[in-house]
Amino acid sequence: MRLVAIDGTYDAWQRAARRLLAEQRAPHTVTWVDETHPERLLDGLDDDEPVNAPPNAAVTVPKAFVHSARRAALHRDPQRWTVLYRLLWQVTHGHRRVLDDDTDADVRRLRRFEAQVGRDIHKMHAFVRFREVVDGDDRRYVAWHRPDHLIVAAVAPFFVERFRVMRWSILTPDACAHWDGHRLTLTPGASAADAPSHDALETLWRTYYASMFNPARVNRRAMVKEMPVRHWATLPEASLIPGLLASAEARVAAMVAHPGRTTSARPFIPPDADVRELAAAAATCAGCELHRAATQVVFGEGPAQARLLVVGEQPGDEEDQRGRPFVGPAGQVLDDALAAAGVARDALYVTNVVKHFSFRREGTRRLHERPRAAESRACRPWLEREMALVRPAAIVCLGSVAMEALLGPGRRVSDARGRRHDSPWAPHLVVTYHPSAVLRASSATESRDIRAALVDDLRLAATLSRDPATAPRTPDA
Ligand code: URA
Ligand code: SF4
Repeated sequence: MRLVAIDGTYDAWQRAARRLLAEQRAPHTVTWVDETHPERLLDGLDDDEPVNAPPNAAVTVPKAFVHSARRAALHRDPQRWTVLYRLLWQVTHGHRRVLDDDTDADVRRLRRFEAQVGRDIHKMHAFVRFREVVDGDDRRYVAWHRPDHLIVAAVAPFFVERFRVMRWSILTPDACAHWDGHRLTLTPGASAADAPSHDALETLWRTYYASMFNPARVNRRAMVKEMPVRHWATLPEASLIPGLLASAEARVAAMVAHPGRTTSARPFIPPDADVRELAAAAATCAGCELHRAATQVVFGEGPAQARLLVVGEQPGDEEDQRGRPFVGPAGQVLDDALAAAGVARDALYVTNVVKHFSFRREGTRRLHERPRAAESRACRPWLEREMALVRPAAIVCLGSVAMEALLGPGRRVSDARGRRHDSPWAPHLVVTYHPSAVLRASSATESRDIRAALVDDLRLAATLSRDPATAPRTPDA
């Protein structure tokens, strides 16, 4: 038995089938293994072997066969390659007109594949609806569609004809097609549990856009092909791309070295990135397992030169969905405490020790899980880089996870709070309760006391951050 792995395209099947025919390999001695990975489709585009290799003189098949086979190849049934090769064998072994034989079981399957693919193509023509996504000067139209079969590449030219002057993307779970006004490109499928609603589509697009930089899925060559250099200047994310590319190789190397068990964010951090570039790169992090189940990364946010940097634990459910730190119930408590302390939130840089939501499911609910030590350790390089770039005058640790990350283990928040500490990361460091402790308190009195302490500590940190001895330094070039 011969195992033949192909990349799931008609052309790959055809090349392999020609070789097998040349060797006189009968169909029952061949097992076809479909290895459809969109990244291989991209690789395939760069194949040295021409896609339309000149037909082997020994093998000529009727045009009608090629036409039907190309269609059937778009079917999702993994058996299609076997069926096609059995038919090809008949065509080339004395039964040239086999397709006219409606009693042949393989012919009937071929017809069924063709018909189903045909219907699916019509459906895609009719039902794709674009939604406008505006991002600064970048205006593009994005659609989500879930075809039954693997038809995206085949159908995309229809949309090019129709919407030639627009810039658009059609996202599907199998593959995505993009038209930039000049060229059509294919990228790996976008993941979405269900057809996204209008607003969710926009989120999906942004997440997808960021994940295109995931080195596990896209190699450098493919990425450059997707985004020809001449177009970079027109994209708002343009300035982020060189940094992401620069670090991509290191990331791939790290993944190869520790398959499935990467344990540090370090390889994902682009060298020389500023805070904005850092945030964009974090969307590609696979430094620990948490990125798999989470919706998106929740990176720090705030002015790049903030005098006060606040460190929480990790995003919660709401933060995970909105992509911003401290916007859920704990964020509400933090906002109230900041207001009471006379500190403007938008003057702060707010971040977390761990950048992805960690949870376990209970029914439909996602229950927050305290980050494991290994995850805090894996994620720490992001925090270190944030602190090094922002260079705050004072850092506030909210709760024990942040405290342990920055002061080490062996202290209790109730003992460490209320005073300043030394830190290699800032002239001053203050520890206080996590805002969620206000919500979890066992009595109203305890809740009030914790909140009062939180307000006092935030006020102390604000005062320390105004210390003239730590006046803002000129940022490094
Ligand atoms: N709790 C945190 O520690 N961080 C957040 O961003 C939200 C809740
Ligand atoms: Fe990377 Fe941190 Fe997310 Fe883990 S939690 S994947 S280290 S960003």
